Amino acid sequence: MIEVRQIQEGEVARFLELLCEVFELDHGRASTVFYSEPFYDLRRKWALFENGHMASILTTTPLDFGFGNAIGIAGVGTVASQRKKGFGEKLLQIVLEDAARNGEPHAILFAHQDVLYKRCGFETVDHVIRAAINQTCQLPYSGMIPEAQVEEMYAEWAKQNPLRLNRDERRWRYWRYVFRETYAAPGGYVASETNLCREAIFSTPPEVWPLLPSAEWYGLRSMTKFLGVPTKHEREELLVMTRNFPDVPQMFMSDQF
Ligand SMILES: CC(C)(COP(=O)(O)OP(=O)(O)OC[C@H]1O[C@@H](n2cnc3c(N)ncnc32)[C@H](O)[C@@H]1OP(=O)(O)O)[C@@H](O)C(=O)NCCC(=O)NCCS
Repeated sequence: MIEVRQIQEGEVARFLELLCEVFELDHGRASTVFYSEPFYDLRRKWALFENGHMASILTTTPLDFGFGNAIGIAGVGTVASQRKKGFGEKLLQIVLEDAARNGEPHAILFAHQDVLYKRCGFETVDHVIRAAINQTCQLPYSGMIPEAQVEEMYAEWAKQNPLRLNRDERRWRYWRYVFRETYAAPGGYVASETNLCREAIFSTPPEVWPLLPSAEWYGLRSMTKFLGVPTKHEREELLVMTRNFPDVPQMFMSDQF
């Protein structure tokens, strides 16, 4: 018998175990992140059970785009011995139907391969790229921008286009959950996580990027071009796949789920 549903409290440990098994994660480290991340919500952890045994899992994240509510899908996995039996597809279809019924009709995910997701109505709309910044990078001596100011600048940017992601209080908690240094750029800011930059807003590209000299950019290719981030040695890392989206979303990978 096949059953698909949100997991219950007593099933969390098995869910985490399966997640670690499928993605080869260290259980100790994964469990710290798993329970403490600001979007932790049992109602968004789904599983397919075969004869009472958890066989496939996934997690959804609420996303508030200007055009409407969407879900981000991540951590899709099936126990190795149970693959290719249609479990992944069944789980995804039921989660997508449930989300649509509950006012989240749009879906997005980042993937290495498209096979399973195309069958569920997703299309590849872009790629996530990683690249070196093709411009001088130097951390400034000036202090970081206060968080409230960053939030204000982001909100102003987000409201200019319905394809952009809005951030509520919980999303900002998630943003701060990953430590970021945020320095001023012309008309905005550049945020970095040690030597990785996944978010920048500016009116004209900085002449000197407030980043470590070895810094890399990680973002949607369309966003990279649109913003004018100077890059070199670009590598494609992930497919950006959406379902029922009006167009390619304008989001930063700092909101990756
Ligand atoms: C991807 C995965 C969840 C599919 O689960 P499943 O229960 O076998 O799914 P289904 O039986 O419904 O579909 C199988 C199809 O998924 C495809 N698939 C395998 N790995 C895939 C991946 N990483 N991304 C997309 N599709 C994938 C297979 O090609 C297969 O199609 P085929 O039979 O025509 O070759 C499973 O292979 C898995 O857990 N892989 C390891 C974890 C992973 O890479 N997850 C995806 C990243 S978020």
